[in-house]
Amino acid sequence: MSAPAGRARRVLAATAAAVAGALAVGMAVAAPSTAEPGPTLGQLAAAKGRYFGSATDNPTLNNAPYTAVLGSEFNQITVGNTQKWQYTEPSRGQFDYSQADRIVAFAQAHNQIVRGHTLAWHNQLPGWVNDVPAGELLGVMRNHIANVAGHYKGKVVHWDVVNEAFEEDGTRRQSVFQQKIGDSYIAEAFKAARAADPNAKLYYNDYNVEGIGAKSDAMYNMVKSFKQQGIPIDGVGLQAHLILGQVPSTVRQNIKRFADLGVDVAITELDIRMRTPRDATKDAQQAADYRTVTNACLAVTRCVGITVWDFSDGYSWIPSVFPGEGAALIFDENFNKKPSYWAVYEALGGTRVTTTTTTTTGGTGTGCTATYRVTSQWGGGFQGEVSIRNNDTTALNGWTVQWTFAQGQALANLWNGVATTNGQDITVRNASYNGTIDAVGTTTFGFIGSFSGSNPVPSPITCTRA
Ligand code: XIL
Repeated sequence: MSAPAGRARRVLAATAAAVAGALAVGMAVAAPSTAEPGPTLGQLAAAKGRYFGSATDNPTLNNAPYTAVLGSEFNQITVGNTQKWQYTEPSRGQFDYSQADRIVAFAQAHNQIVRGHTLAWHNQLPGWVNDVPAGELLGVMRNHIANVAGHYKGKVVHWDVVNEAFEEDGTRRQSVFQQKIGDSYIAEAFKAARAADPNAKLYYNDYNVEGIGAKSDAMYNMVKSFKQQGIPIDGVGLQAHLILGQVPSTVRQNIKRFADLGVDVAITELDIRMRTPRDATKDAQQAADYRTVTNACLAVTRCVGITVWDFSDGYSWIPSVFPGEGAALIFDENFNKKPSYWAVYEALGGTRVTTTTTTTTGGTGTGCTATYRVTSQWGGGFQGEVSIRNNDTTALNGWTVQWTFAQGQALANLWNGVATTNGQDITVRNASYNGTIDAVGTTTFGFIGSFSGSNPVPSPITCTRA
């Protein structure tokens, strides 16, 4: 968990130190060959002592664009399906870890911690469990937990030991475990999990328990009584399958009351669904909702992390279960970051890299387009890049880009262009060697700047061809 954060800090520190040195002696700064990417959600969360993770499922492990994001953006993985009873003990006493092992291996290869999910749940149970005689089910459940948690001993940081044991009114759900073992089955499951993997943190996990209400009260009372009796429980998972615009107003207060009982809290299955299709208004509401949930977790020290229930709208369980709804996650189906991604990013302390683009017609022919980007930023300094695109179908010979630094930013050093400054107005002309841009081609120049306070992207930025 600390490794990704350490890497991010080192990158930022090295960049800042190099720039400070360059500014001090007025030397030329070489343009880096590639811009440093911004920190990931996992790195930002780690810097706050948390994780930010995603659930995943076996079929998607063969999808390269998917795994590129899964392996880099998150520092925690939850096994979305294949640790469930139906996969791990499909027939009595026959255990199969082949699928879940692949996900755990992926996580280990990418330096990601794993949440185990889930040991005792009424869904995705193989049919044979329902036929176990009442007198045998406690033994069967203990054996299942001993095997599964034993197999993953040392490899999962949390187990969702029992999942969804309460009804909306706070009474016990009449699952096969409840009916055949009775009220004690939850405590027995936790004891079996502790025996199998003493170092895993043991969680009770449920949905519609994010705010204060009858169901979360029942969960609260159970945790309180477990603590009093010495039943080994370490945390509660708030699944957080939420609806657009309906984040409960008491989320933070609710997280706090569980923390005050002496357990950790995790947001375990976050998604925020809307009626599809998406539009800008819904996206903005969703971003606000993700921000609220992230801030609520960050407000309570014992809220240890957030997991989205998969990360891309193309791989979400929502459309298949809630017809007409979807678009619940932080990346779209093509792995583009949505406003909800940026809301989480900023709530976790990230500074968003933004761009401005303006097209201007100058000289003869069609104009050129200048796009301004802040590629990295640190305390008081930043690196920027402007790309110039020739929109014409014939070559362009000479270009000028202009903008105004409205917030007092200053240019320290610029390469691949010739800068003139007049107060806050910046004009950059091509260097001797890059004035010609082929038909529909592109060139770039880069610079180091300083700022104090904020560093918004200047707008407009104009591009004029000679
Ligand atoms: C869901 C999976 O995402 C689906 O692929 C599967 O078909 C059904 O289960 N609460 C839970 C998760 O604890 O295990 C569920 O996952 C979603 C609701």
